[in-house]
Amino acid sequence: MKNIPIDIIWAESQNGVLGNKGANKLLWRLPKELKHFKEITLGHILIMGRSTLESLPGILPNRLHIIMTRQKDYVSPFGESDMIKISHSPEAAVELAASLASEGQRAIVAGGDDIYRYFMDPGFIYARLLGKLYRSIILAEFQGDISACEINPMYWPLLSKDAPSEIDEKNNLSFISEVYQHSPTII
Ligand SMILES: NC(=O)c1ccc[n+]([C@@H]2O[C@H](COP(=O)([O-])OP(=O)(O)OC[C@H]3O[C@@H](n4cnc5c(N)ncnc54)[C@H](OP(=O)(O)O)[C@@H]3O)[C@@H](O)[C@H]2O)c1
Repeated sequence: MKNIPIDIIWAESQNGVLGNKGANKLLWRLPKELKHFKEITLGHILIMGRSTLESLPGILPNRLHIIMTRQKDYVSPFGESDMIKISHSPEAAVELAASLASEGQRAIVAGGDDIYRYFMDPGFIYARLLGKLYRSIILAEFQGDISACEINPMYWPLLSKDAPSEIDEKNNLSFISEVYQHSPTII
C-alpha cells in the first residue's frame, strides 16, 4: 500500500462534548471555526462515519468523502457522487484513501465517536501514518452524549495553541485552536 499521512480533526466544548448520537447537526454555530475546518480539510480526503455524513448539509466541496458504514448497499442521502466512496472498516478506509490520493493529499479523520476511537488507538495498524491532530475548544459548555477522546501526551505532544479567537457577536462564542503532532514512540 502507498503511504498516506492521516490527520484527525475535531471540535469539542469546554466540557469535552463533541455532539449527540443520532443528532443531525453540530451543537454550536461558530462560522469562524467552520472556516478553520475548511482551511485544514480543503482539497484532502475526509474519512467519516455514516452518521457524520448524514449530519452535513451536503457534500463538502472539493473534498473526497470516504464513508464508513457496515451497510453493504449504503447509498448516501446526497445521491450518487464521485466525491463519496464507501468503506466497511477503518483499515479499508485508509487503504482506499491511499489508493485514491494524489500527490500531496492527506486523509483527515472527521468523526464521529467510534471513528475517532479507532484512529486514536495506539494499537491501530496504521498508527504509523498518523500526523497532526487539530483540536478546537469551543469556550462554552454544551450537553451531549459523544465525548472527545483523551489525548495522551506520550503519543500526541502539543505543537501549538492559539489565543482565543474573537468572540462571535451573534452567539457570544469563541474558540481556541490547538495542534498536536503524533509521536509513535513513547517518550
Ligand atoms: N464536534 C465535532 O468535531 C464532530 C465531528 C464529527 C461528528 N460530530 C457529531 O457527531 C454526530 C455523529 O457521530 P456518531 O458518533 O453518532 O456517528 P458516526 O461515527 O459519524 O457514524 C457511526 C456509523 O459509522 C459506521 N461505523 C462505525 N464503526 C464502523 C466500522 N468498524 N466499520 C464500518 N462502519 C462503521 C456505522 O454505520 P452504519 O450504521 O451505517 O453501519 C455507524 O453507525 C453528529 O451529531 C455530528 O454532528 C461532531
